[in-house]
Amino acid sequence: MRHPRTRTTRRRVVGALTAGLLCAAGLAAPAVAAPVQDTIRPALDDGLALTPPMGFNNWNSTHCRAEFNDEMVRGIADIFVEKGLKDAGYQYVNLDDCWALPERDANGKLVPDPVRFPNGIKDVADYVHSKGLKLGIYTSAGTKTCNSAGFPGALGHEYSDAQQFADWGVDYLKYDNCNNQGVDAKLRYTTMRDALKATGRPIVYSICEWGQNNPWEWAADVGHLWRTTGDISDTWGSMLSILKENLPLAPYAGPGHWNDPDMLEVGNGGMTDTEYRSHFSMWSIMSAPLLIGSDLRTASDATFEILGNKEVIAVDQDPLGKQGTVLSSEGGRWVVAKEMRDGSRAVALFNETGSPQRIATSAEAVGLPDADAYTLRDLWQHRSYNTAGTISATVPAHGTVLVRVSADPTWAKHPPAVELGLAGSPLIEAGRTAKLATTVTDLGRTPAKQVSVALSGPEAWTVKATSPTSSGVVPTGRSLRTTWSVTVPPGTPTGSYDLTLKASYRSPTGIRVDSMLPLTMSVVVPPPSGMSELGDLPWLSAANGYGPVERNTSNGESAAGDGHPLTIGGVVYGKGLGVHAESAVEYYTGSACETVTADVGVDDEKGANGTVAFEVWADGSKVASTDVLTNALPAQPLTADVTGAQVVRLVVTDGGDGIDSDHADWAEALLSC
Ligand code: GLA
Repeated sequence: MRHPRTRTTRRRVVGALTAGLLCAAGLAAPAVAAPVQDTIRPALDDGLALTPPMGFNNWNSTHCRAEFNDEMVRGIADIFVEKGLKDAGYQYVNLDDCWALPERDANGKLVPDPVRFPNGIKDVADYVHSKGLKLGIYTSAGTKTCNSAGFPGALGHEYSDAQQFADWGVDYLKYDNCNNQGVDAKLRYTTMRDALKATGRPIVYSICEWGQNNPWEWAADVGHLWRTTGDISDTWGSMLSILKENLPLAPYAGPGHWNDPDMLEVGNGGMTDTEYRSHFSMWSIMSAPLLIGSDLRTASDATFEILGNKEVIAVDQDPLGKQGTVLSSEGGRWVVAKEMRDGSRAVALFNETGSPQRIATSAEAVGLPDADAYTLRDLWQHRSYNTAGTISATVPAHGTVLVRVSADPTWAKHPPAVELGLAGSPLIEAGRTAKLATTVTDLGRTPAKQVSVALSGPEAWTVKATSPTSSGVVPTGRSLRTTWSVTVPPGTPTGSYDLTLKASYRSPTGIRVDSMLPLTMSVVVPPPSGMSELGDLPWLSAANGYGPVERNTSNGESAAGDGHPLTIGGVVYGKGLGVHAESAVEYYTGSACETVTADVGVDDEKGANGTVAFEVWADGSKVASTDVLTNALPAQPLTADVTGAQVVRLVVTDGGDGIDSDHADWAEALLSC
């Protein structure tokens, strides 16, 4: 029974990839059961999860701590209703690991932890249902769940556990992978699918085997969603690495069968709001499940504003169900486009780098039909513009500009889109004057009128325009270019300082638009001459997959200073940097340095899973790199020529397999200037 179904699934994916070609050529679909329409049909014929599931799961905010309890779950359900999140589409309130007691009862039944859930699970489910919401639960396709306390798993108990969940009124099951005893994954997950089906209750089925057995290839008719990666954590590096693993899997997603890059970290405090907006934008353009992972009872206004953005949610929930695809990613400047059911395209301009980047594409490149002009809706600003076809922006460091572009004949009622641009180095030494240039470019089919621009910086700084700051009219494709001198007072401490570029203009019909680009300048000190230990030098910026980058110890994954002596292949090093993939550490070298050398490798403190690659960048060019290195290898010597570079960047990637156990050491890392 099961095997033929699996084969049908494979054909469906091929159908999805070739559907466009078949259409274009006007050919009939082949005789296999894979008509063009198949890609928008649920894979499990139960009508569930036709759009990616939306809701809450406690794991990212509480793990197994005591605040995960009955009161929290009810509190979240209340907030879903009170704060409009239910109206925005959030529906499932899901319990993760640690809700049960470690032992089953005498009848083999699961027992809710009486301290966390004194009224049992059914009572909580009834409450959640009374709010018009749904309840989710968790167990593992193994003998025990993942927590070391060892809560019961469902392997060998699939039918009775599924029935117990159904009896409680459970609407969603997350089925994990720990303690699986080596039993074949397809068998384990398919058995639970059949057990859930046998209960007769509609239950969304979330497969959580971390992408280990390529579930995208076989699980479309097993579950409604499948994790594609290891666990997310609340850091920029973790989010980025998961994003990069999930993006290429776009062909496998569709209504009823979604790629799951794990739950949201928005609001948990480890990223900036700009980074959380990127996280939410990219999860939405990937048609990922939107499961809130922060404790909404203490969430900030900014968190609610991000999670409650209905225009972004509409990208995620579009009924066509296509996951966005990568059009380009050169230099960390990502363009991802998603076809929407109304023919429009959602387009994310995502900046992976630590400095502002111009990211550009066009209506044609994202697949829109040829037209005089288009309507471009900015989904974070909530404003509409017209564009003659260019879709571009200067995107702040780690930011995302998310737009929805359509070949809409009423484009002329919207003001023209303008792009703010910046040229010149954002690095400056105290007491010096930097020259910058800004541009305000009209991307619209209509002209921008009464255009003016202003640049402001910290109070003690002097910012002066050295060319005109206004223009009566800027036509399609033209720019107002202004040069500036920015003087930093002597003695200004090193660090990042905020500047703001503001432009204002009017449409031909008089609609006023104010637009803004946040900028950062870094006050730097020149590197010392001679040889310096990079483990001791101040850095410009440091991003890491888990915890902070450590000086002269390994990375211990959470708090600063929790690492061990740097150790690679049994050799202990006194100096260097201990990082965790994905990582990037930047140093200001001010054209005064020549080489970086280090002994690099995976730190001995982790088991066999660590796989990383090291790269050294001199400004925009990669000047040295290693192959993928593992725990089995001794330290590799790395030498990079960084002559002339303003900034040197030390990068560690995850080796392409996610960041689990990727403790990477830049041992004895030296900079010579
Ligand atoms: C695994 C899963 C996580 C979480 C924990 C609970 O690590 O991948 O999402 O459910 O188990 O123990």
